[in-house]
Amino acid sequence: MIKVLTYGTYDLFHYGHLRLLERAKELGDYLIVGISTDEFNHIKGKVCVYPYEERAAIVQAISYVDEVIPEENWEQKVRDVIENEIDIFVMGDDWKGEFDFLEEHCRVVYLPRTDGISSTEIKEDIKNGI
Ligand code: CTP
Repeated sequence: MIKVLTYGTYDLFHYGHLRLLERAKELGDYLIVGISTDEFNHIKGKVCVYPYEERAAIVQAISYVDEVIPEENWEQKVRDVIENEIDIFVMGDDWKGEFDFLEEHCRVVYLPRTDGISSTEIKEDIKNGI
């Protein structure tokens, strides 16, 4: 069984998120998604519309997703990869190069982002009355 791991905030779940998860799952048989906790977002200075429990529940309900785990800090990735026996680590290419250090433990793949959509953009659009 090929196990795939990816991380993200997944606030205001959108089509770009869905396509990322679809392509991540296509790379293997079992997809684990690490969702940043509210405490971790606070450390990063990121504010979410939806709390962790709701973001995690939405992602868990996506048919491509087999398991959701909390992402609580920057350092846990190596441990998660080893403990979950991950074969492929996947992120969108906005993170290109950032996680190459994991290549010691698994394959690292950066997938092209879907054009023209992001949680930040959705928030801006709503704020501007679009
Ligand atoms: N992603 C993607 N295409 C998009 C938006 C996101 O492929 N248009 C991917 C990211 O590269 C990441 C995952 O989806 O691997 C989760 O991204 P996240 O940062 O939660 O979503 P964004 O919409 O980019 O959020 P923000 O605007 O807050 O950065």
